[in-house]
Amino acid sequence: MKVLLFNGSPKANGCTYTALTEIANVLEKEGIETEIFQIGSKAVRGCVGCGLCSQNEDHHCAYNEDCVNEAIDKLKTADGFVFGSPVHFAGASGFITAFLDRLFLAGSSYLAYKPAACVASARRAGTTATLDQLNKYLGIRNMPIISGSYWNMVHGSCPEDVQKDLEGLQTMRNVGQNMAWILKCIEAGKENGIGKPVAVSGAKTNFIQ
Ligand SMILES: Cc1cc2nc3c(=O)[nH]c(=O)nc-3n(C[C@H](O)[C@H](O)[C@H](O)COP(=O)(O)O)c2cc1C
Repeated sequence: MKVLLFNGSPKANGCTYTALTEIANVLEKEGIETEIFQIGSKAVRGCVGCGLCSQNEDHHCAYNEDCVNEAIDKLKTADGFVFGSPVHFAGASGFITAFLDRLFLAGSSYLAYKPAACVASARRAGTTATLDQLNKYLGIRNMPIISGSYWNMVHGSCPEDVQKDLEGLQTMRNVGQNMAWILKCIEAGKENGIGKPVAVSGAKTNFIQ
């Protein structure tokens, strides 16, 4: 089993990374492979809604110049995900917002029914708004949302600060344990004939019909 952890910070080894590492360490101890995928160091383009991804057999986005298609390929072999972002002006970073818009449109079939957690890191405020924003991606893709013993946040301006946020780190370890537990339950379910459900589909209404 493998969990892919996405870092939406421009700082590859900053506060968000520190939180993700705390989760990854627990998962590794539980025998689950982990990989931290760095999003925020290079430019990530936003979605232009061209719809070409729905026609591509490999579910790739038409725009191939950044890390989104590499991430879509990695979704296929992952069983669970963690999406981490620093708080930027009381919301998720621009990097992860642009990234997730395209990942969740183009790569949706590789995300569905896989458990995921969202994590926010802030100096002081905006964490719950950021978590609300990030959790909305999971809520539209049939993904079980993994929670912790507090809302999934850490506080600090640098990794050393986060190391002092003992409750934040404790929450991260509980997120890791809860993710491991759900993944093992899903696996045990498969072995006992309980597979993932098939979504009821067909109805697509909007407010002008
Ligand atoms: C552009 C920008 C906007 C920020 N906005 C906020 C904010 O609204 N609230 C807050 O508490 N911290 C804010 N911060 C601080 C970061 O959220 C905080 O230092 C975070 O832990 C950094 O995580 P990182 O090291 O993974 O990037 C902001 C930082 C930047 C660069």
